[in-house]
Amino acid sequence: MKLFAIAVTFSISLIASVFFMIAYALNLSTQLQGLGLFVALGALGAGIVLWALYALPQRQTVNAIEDYPSDESDRAGAEETLNRGTGELERRSFIMRFFFGAIGALGLAALFPFRSLAPRFGRGLYHTKWTSGSRLVREDGTPVKVAELAVGSVVTVFPDGAAGDESSQTLLLRVPPGTIQATKGRADWAPRGYVAFSKVCTHAGCPVGLYRASSFELLCPCHQSVFDVVNEARPISGPASRALPQLPLAIDSEGYLRAQNDFSEPIGPGFWQRS
Ligand code: FES
Repeated sequence: MKLFAIAVTFSISLIASVFFMIAYALNLSTQLQGLGLFVALGALGAGIVLWALYALPQRQTVNAIEDYPSDESDRAGAEETLNRGTGELERRSFIMRFFFGAIGALGLAALFPFRSLAPRFGRGLYHTKWTSGSRLVREDGTPVKVAELAVGSVVTVFPDGAAGDESSQTLLLRVPPGTIQATKGRADWAPRGYVAFSKVCTHAGCPVGLYRASSFELLCPCHQSVFDVVNEARPISGPASRALPQLPLAIDSEGYLRAQNDFSEPIGPGFWQRS
């Protein structure tokens, strides 16, 4: 009965660890995940205490050295003790199986949170929802036409069908035609003075939101990085070391602004695979 109680306690710990892993994988609430870990650790601790109290030998045996040979009754007693010891060992290995099961499950569960220490692996780090021909829309889904923005204005836009998508948030600005200093290959990325850059700061990922039209500068409010809009949004002060990725623009036959393609490079703060 005691062994059964200990085995049940370790089993509860194992089940709770599995519950935690499932809750973590399914992104259930942190309360449920915490409950799983709490029960797993608590049951494991309780099982160890029970095991120490009831299953392990509590008595101390002193074996007096006697003259040999032992008499018949002593030999029978020694044999009985040996047999009892064998039974003890079998019980221990039975509990050990449950114990190592619970410890193993808890150890596995402890590895799961490491996934939260880094961005999710995959192509999602390199691409946004902008594709060739995506129409530029505002957060409420209304498309932007070429005649709608005055010179000096700025608006946050998204690809049509993905309004509100964080990785695709983009600043659309209009500067006087001819002020953009485009490098080779970007000459046709800013038609009629429209130019677009990722809104996600390349320093630590804050939204870049302040535009000083008089000097064509974008300012990130988090740590005051300043980006030069007419010079491909290169950083001119502050901690950001990389330009804001540019979205190549085009105007379709109906006058809607569209993306030629995805951003020029991965958005947001640098990570280990970038040069
Ligand atoms: S996040 Fe933009 S300057 Fe730090």
